[in-house]
Amino acid sequence: MKEQLEALRQKALEELEGLSSAKDVEEFRIRMLGKKGELTGLLRGMGSLPAEERPVVGQMVNELRALLEEKLSAKESAIADAAKAEKLAAETIDVTLPGEQRKVGGLHPLNKTLEDLIDIFRSMGFDVVDGPEVETDYYNFEALNVPADHPARDMQDTFYLAENLLLRTQTSAAQIRTMENRKPPIRIICPGRVFRADEVDATHSPVFHQVEGLVVDKGVTMCDLKGVLEQFAREIYGPDTKVKFRPSFFPFTEPSVEVDVTCSECGGKGCRVCKGSGWIEILGAGMVHPRVLKGCGIDPEEYSGFAFGIGLDRLTTTRHKISDIRLLFENDVRFLDQF
Ligand code: DAH
Repeated sequence: MKEQLEALRQKALEELEGLSSAKDVEEFRIRMLGKKGELTGLLRGMGSLPAEERPVVGQMVNELRALLEEKLSAKESAIADAAKAEKLAAETIDVTLPGEQRKVGGLHPLNKTLEDLIDIFRSMGFDVVDGPEVETDYYNFEALNVPADHPARDMQDTFYLAENLLLRTQTSAAQIRTMENRKPPIRIICPGRVFRADEVDATHSPVFHQVEGLVVDKGVTMCDLKGVLEQFAREIYGPDTKVKFRPSFFPFTEPSVEVDVTCSECGGKGCRVCKGSGWIEILGAGMVHPRVLKGCGIDPEEYSGFAFGIGLDRLTTTRHKISDIRLLFENDVRFLDQF
């Protein structure tokens, strides 16, 4: 029996060394120390021993059991420590690695220009109003004194949705809605998208942006128009910018002008951007036609006004020396990133 015990001790200690997982440990414990385990089996066999040997063997068995239990729990915690160390190693973060760059979004150059423009006009006392993109023929043409046979009304130029319904071709429609809803003094700008049946090229797009301006009050003159536009041009293009009025025609203004500013690229000497003229056209303007005022219930004998329509896309391209209007609409991030 003593030899059996010694052999079991040898075998058990050897096996114990080789245990490598919590599962192995548990199986070993059951196999050795469990109810039907090998050591427990030996203990049962003690009944056949002579009475005087029993206490000695019993003590040996108990010692072996205590030894195995101690070794097992040491093994168990060694395995747990190793597993923890391995897990920690796998989860280690290298804080010296370069960080992940998060891209910060920015304003589209059109919106940036629009925000600047709104700031400038707000500082001169203008309100910002909104108008619908789907308009009736009345607001887009008729009330603006555009005659029935005017070429702009042609299907070739205007996107019609129904007989009297169209995509606005100009933000000027907002002038009428404003004058219907407000009493003078009126000082508003209306930015927005406009639509024309144009082929896409470097300077044309079927969708583009305008900012309409309207001032109606007693005693408003063309000098006021020039003063406001000069102030605006200087803030956008720089303090040395000059403004030039050229006679023109729009059905809703009389007199009408086209407005040029000195080329921001060459300062007026003439270059590729201004096609050698030294001037860049940025808007149309004029004194609101008495017929338009009257149509909105404003007495032209008492009140006068001026209006202007700024091409926002052109303002943005000339300001940033962008050669092709399509770049503003394609939204290629490599382009937008530069602003
Ligand atoms: N609506 C004109 C256009 O689309 C621009 C314009 C010209 C607007 C003169 C105005 C104005 O308010 O007075 O070409």
